[in-house]
Amino acid sequence: MTHKIAIIGFGNIAKAIVTPLLDKKLIQPENVYCVVNSEKSLENIKKNYKYKINVYKSSSKDSKVIWDCQVKLLSIKPQNFNDISELHDIKGKDSLLVSILAGVSLNRLTQKFPNHKCVRVVTNIPITVGKGLTGIAWGEEITKDQKQMTKKLFENTSKVYEFSEDYLDTFLALTSSGPAIIALIIEALSDGGLSGGLPKKLSEELVIEMIIGTIILIKESKITISELKNLVTSPGGTTISALRVLEKKSIRSALIESIVSASNRSKEFR
Ligand SMILES: NC(=O)c1ccc[n+]([C@@H]2O[C@H](COP(=O)([O-])OP(=O)(O)OC[C@H]3O[C@@H](n4cnc5c(N)ncnc54)[C@H](OP(=O)(O)O)[C@@H]3O)[C@@H](O)[C@H]2O)c1
Repeated sequence: MTHKIAIIGFGNIAKAIVTPLLDKKLIQPENVYCVVNSEKSLENIKKNYKYKINVYKSSSKDSKVIWDCQVKLLSIKPQNFNDISELHDIKGKDSLLVSILAGVSLNRLTQKFPNHKCVRVVTNIPITVGKGLTGIAWGEEITKDQKQMTKKLFENTSKVYEFSEDYLDTFLALTSSGPAIIALIIEALSDGGLSGGLPKKLSEELVIEMIIGTIILIKESKITISELKNLVTSPGGTTISALRVLEKKSIRSALIESIVSASNRSKEFR
C-alpha cells in the first residue's frame, strides 16, 4: 500500500489492525499518521511502540496533517465520536474513511465527514492473533480501489465478510461481544472443575483444551452440532444429567437474549 494512512485513535484495536501490516511491510511506518487524545498515550506510543510512526495529540495543530491522508481509520470509542473535529479534507474530496466504531451508522459517519467515502467495519479482538472476523458495510459510491484498500487492511488478520449495514449490529453482538461471552463460559466451567476439587490452573487448561478439541472436531468431521451433542449424551448418563441442569436454568434463552441485548445496545449508538 503506497497510500498515507491516518489513524484516529491508536488504541488496542487500531494497533492490532496496523501492526501486522507494518510487520509484513505492507505499509511503511513513515506513511502512518496517528492521533490520540492524551499526552500519556502520545509519549507511550513514541517510547514503546515498535515502529517509528508519526503520532500527534488531537488538540495539536500538527495533527491536521491527517487531513491529507487518502485513507483514514477511525478507531476511537463510540462515546468520543462527538469530540472529534470534522475532517476537512483540504487536498481533495472522496478520501476513504473506515470506521470501526461499534454501532455508529453510515448515515452519521457521512454527516460528520461529508467529504469522505465512508465504510463501516466491525472486527473482533482475535485479530490480535490473526484469527479475527471482520464485517464490512460499504457506504455510497465507494470505488473498486477503495474497496480493495479496505479489505487489505483486514484480510491479514481476519476472515472478511461483506454485507448490508442491517446485519452489522448482530454481527457485532456475535463476533465482537462473543469473546467475552466465551471467556465467561470458560471461567464458569473452570469454577465447576474447582468445585470438584481440581486445581484452578489445571481446571482452566482442561476447559480450554476441551473447547479447542470440540471446535476442531466440528470443523473437521462431517457431523452437525446436534449430532455431536447426541454422540456424547448416552441414556441415563452424566452428560444428560449436566444438560438437564442447564435447560432448567434456561441457559439457551440466556445466551440468545445476551446476543439480542448486545445487538440492541449497538443500535442505541446510532
Ligand atoms: N475492544 C474490542 O474488543 C473491540 C472490538 C471491535 C471493535 N472495537 C471498536 O474499536 C474502537 C476502539 O476500541 P479500543 O478498544 O481500541 O479503544 P481504546 O484502546 O480505548 O483506544 C481508543 C483510542 O482513541 C483515542 N482517542 C480518544 N478520544 C480521541 C479524540 N478526540 N481524538 C483522537 N483520538 C482519541 C484514545 O487516545 P487516549 O489513549 O489518549 O485517550 C485511544 O488511542 C471502539 O469504537 C470499539 O467499538 C473494539
